[in-house]
Amino acid sequence: MRRKIIAGNWKMYKTVAEAISLADGLKKELFDFSLCDVVICPTFVCLTEVYKTLQASSIKLGAQNLFWEAEGAFTGEISGSMIRSTGAEYVIIGHSERRQYFAETNATVNQRIKAALKNQLLPIVCVGENLAERESGKTFDVVKDHLTGSLAGLTHEEMEKIVIAYEPVWAIGTGKTATASQAQEVHAYIRKVLSEIFNNEIAEKTRIQYGGSVKPENAAELMGQADIDGALVGGASLKVESFVAIVRNAVK
Ligand code: PGA
Repeated sequence: MRRKIIAGNWKMYKTVAEAISLADGLKKELFDFSLCDVVICPTFVCLTEVYKTLQASSIKLGAQNLFWEAEGAFTGEISGSMIRSTGAEYVIIGHSERRQYFAETNATVNQRIKAALKNQLLPIVCVGENLAERESGKTFDVVKDHLTGSLAGLTHEEMEKIVIAYEPVWAIGTGKTATASQAQEVHAYIRKVLSEIFNNEIAEKTRIQYGGSVKPENAAELMGQADIDGALVGGASLKVESFVAIVRNAVK
C-alpha cells in the first residue's frame, strides 16, 4: 500500500511574514496528522523561517528547485546542500513552469535529480503534456519522453526515493482539472513505463501525484483512483482552509 503524499507548491507567492502566517495556520490544523505525508514548498527565501514555524509538527518542508553544482560562481542559484541546511527534505524538480519559462529540459532535470539525491533531498519530479500535445494524441509519448530523459542513469535504490507528479500543463492554474479517469489512465501508463525502465517492484512502490487544479471538491475522487497516490497543489495550497480540506479529503 503506497502512502499518500500531498504537497503544496506555493510558487512565487508569499513574503516571509505571509509564509510564516500560512505555515502557522497549517501547523495548527495538521500538527500531528499522520494519515498521509504532507509537504509544503515555499520560495527559497522563506524556507528557514517556515522550517522554524513548522517545528515539531508532522508537516514536512520542500523547495521548488535547486541547481546541480555544489557551489561556485553561479549568481542567483541555490545548491542542494544549501536547501538541505534549511531543514527542507523535499525538492520539486522539472515543474512545467520551469520547462516553459526557464528552459528546463530532461537533461537538466536529470542533473538536478542527481544533485538532490546526493544531498539527501527527496525529489518530486514533474512530467506532463501541454494542450497541443494532448489534442494531437501525444500525451503518452510526451510523458514517456519526460520519464526516460529525466530518470536516466538512476539506480533502483535512487528511484525508490523519488515521487513523480503527473501534471497536465493544460490543467495547471486553469481551473480545468483532468477527469479522474483521464488522470488515472496516464498514471497507470506512468507505472507501466517505470516498470520498463526499472522493474515491476519499483513501479508498484513509486508514488505518483496528480497536479493541476486540485481543489477540496475534486480531491477525494482523484485520490480514489488506483494509481493516484497524492496531489501536487498550487493555487489551493495558498490558503489554510483549502489545503487542509484537500489533505483531509485525500485520505477519506
Ligand atoms: P494548480 O497548480 O493547483 O494551481 O493548478 C499545480 C502545480 O502547478 O503544481
